[in-house]
Amino acid sequence: MIITLAGGGSTFTPGIVKSIALRKDELEVDEIRLYDINEERQRKVGVLVDWILHEDLKLDIKLTVTTDKAEAFTDADFVFAQMRVGGYAMREQDEKIPLRHGCVGQETCGCGGLAYGMRTIFPMVELIDDVEKYAKPTYWILNYSNPAAIVSEACRKMRPNARIINICDMPIAIIDLVCAALEINKKDVEYDYFGLNHFGWFTSIRHKGEEVLPQLRAYIKEHEILLPSSYLKGMSSLMKSNTDNEDESKQNRHTKGSWYYVWKGVYEIMELFPEYLPNTYLNYYLQQKEFVEHSNPERTRANEVEETREANLFAGIDRYEKTGEIDESTFYAGSHGDWIADLAVALKNDTKARFLVICQNKGAIPNMPYDAMVELPAYIGKNGPEVISRDNIPLFQQGLMMQQLNSEKLVVEACIEGSYEKALQAFTLNKTVPSMTVAKEVLDDMIEANKDFWPDLK
Ligand code: NAD
Ligand code: G6P
Ligand code: MN
Repeated sequence: MIITLAGGGSTFTPGIVKSIALRKDELEVDEIRLYDINEERQRKVGVLVDWILHEDLKLDIKLTVTTDKAEAFTDADFVFAQMRVGGYAMREQDEKIPLRHGCVGQETCGCGGLAYGMRTIFPMVELIDDVEKYAKPTYWILNYSNPAAIVSEACRKMRPNARIINICDMPIAIIDLVCAALEINKKDVEYDYFGLNHFGWFTSIRHKGEEVLPQLRAYIKEHEILLPSSYLKGMSSLMKSNTDNEDESKQNRHTKGSWYYVWKGVYEIMELFPEYLPNTYLNYYLQQKEFVEHSNPERTRANEVEETREANLFAGIDRYEKTGEIDESTFYAGSHGDWIADLAVALKNDTKARFLVICQNKGAIPNMPYDAMVELPAYIGKNGPEVISRDNIPLFQQGLMMQQLNSEKLVVEACIEGSYEKALQAFTLNKTVPSMTVAKEVLDDMIEANKDFWPDLK
């Protein structure tokens, strides 16, 4: 069993490798390969992964660290894809350019998400082609490269037969917070959910079969935020800033900065629309004006991440290389890696466990288009997801989803056809953009910033 991580230099790699290693018997894993286009970044993360596998866990799993596609993908069983095309430097542009024009600046939502999508579509298709060429015919690509909604639509359109499953950890992270808030165990929880990626709602959360949404509503109303302190305490210092002169509560990225508003926004949305628990990302579409008001166009989430998750990881690796001392708090092995590794276990061992996946609708939500890429619960076995269908969704959610879906579809068509007009339609249609003139201003700035990445638009 060979598992390759594409984007092996990612800040999430150490956590994912640890999650794989902890499931080594279920996955029968012989070799882990790290593949990246950035050789130095890949080498450094490889040093830490080597420590995790061979010093910390003392496992007999071969590690290969490479920038060569044939070495990375030959006979691979699973490819976990986590590429950030353009890196944090371009994430900054995705967030800052829209803000300069008074629009939400977010890496996967609004104009920033559309821009990131336009950079990522073709590298993802290239990855699929490389994996098809070299890997076992029964390969599975588990993709969480963002923006997952646009990436999955592009894969559906351009490589419809690829064995790829697109996934997101946000709903799972929300369930972690729900469990901390209600003091219940995640393994006893099952939920219903519908939406697009980063654009959906929990319609039911059951603990041991009993509906807990009413208690959750009461909790959120009482605390005026969904951010239980027991959850914060359990988080690693991954979230802390790399400066040591602030007190603990101020250092956590979730209690201040951009994440705080997101968790607060769950309360604000539920004050007006209490029926379902919203995905945190809906804030950017339902409170677009408020997000622009409290954002700082000079310092966005990209900067926060560079100073925390990324800085901590590479400082930890540098220290290990210089002194031989390891500080495990500089990397993270939480729900993110567990969720991906558990999905691989379900595919390999045909467990039919229930996961949320991004998949083609094919009638599962009757009042959404057949070809829409939606996010729904599915049973996962060796042949992939068996999606659980549901009834029509309400007009409010369906209307929001259609607008977002068509914006995402148009940006994919813009890339494939090289069409400026379709790109402008995608930006104009997006709910975070107030007018076609503003859409054009943002798009034109983004074309300039992305000239090394985007296809030519005519
Ligand atoms: P990162 O920049 O630390 O790591 C990404 C790595 O991808 C880098 O080492 C980079 O060199 C590499 N890369 C870029 N283009 C590549 C290509 N064409 N082929 C191979 N490697 C390439 O980023 P990160 O913050 O660790 O996030 C990694 C990715 O995972 C991002 O796309 C992020 O949005 C995504 N992510 C998604 C979810 C989800 O819910 N779906 C959750 C967490 C992270
Ligand atoms: C959640 C989302 C991911 C996203 C991440 C961003 O986990 O599901 O899609 O990549 O948040 O986190 P960051 O800390 O990088 O802003
Ligand atoms: Mn996500």
